[in-house]
Amino acid sequence: MELQALIDRLTMAMIDFDKGDTMRIQHFLKVHRFAQLIGHSEHLDDHTQMILESAAVVHDIGIHPAEAKYGNCNGKLQEQEGPAPARKMLTELGYNSDDTERICYLIAHHHTYHPIDGMDYQILVEADFLVNFFEDNIPANSVAYTLNKIFKTATGKKIAELMFLEKYEKP
Ligand SMILES: [Fe+2]
Repeated sequence: MELQALIDRLTMAMIDFDKGDTMRIQHFLKVHRFAQLIGHSEHLDDHTQMILESAAVVHDIGIHPAEAKYGNCNGKLQEQEGPAPARKMLTELGYNSDDTERICYLIAHHHTYHPIDGMDYQILVEADFLVNFFEDNIPANSVAYTLNKIFKTATGKKIAELMFLEKYEKP
């Protein structure tokens, strides 16, 4: 299947999974777009791009199960509760088991920044930060710190700088 068609189907499945939770749906749509953009700009091979985009769509799938089970969704719990529903969704959409396991690994580690063992992982983390900096209203000095510590791709750094470290002055 064409990557775009596959990602569209996965996105619809994930919107359904998160139904009623507008914030979460908007969150992963943004993370996916930043991930896609950074992946293209950094010239990922087609397979790594597919893994990255798929992981970006489903990366927070553990939040609702964690809330249902424990009443809260801290990073560790969502990493723990994410792989099972993701495995089911990906398998139903025809992902093979190697790809499914890599995506589940990324879900289970996307709040863990050492070691980052691939460009799919690195870019997923950067894309999630780009959205969370905004959604969590993170001050510029903390953005700059994370940028230095964790961001590696030229595109991710550029987007972060343009979006958070530039000042827009109304003319
Ligand atoms: Fe996220």
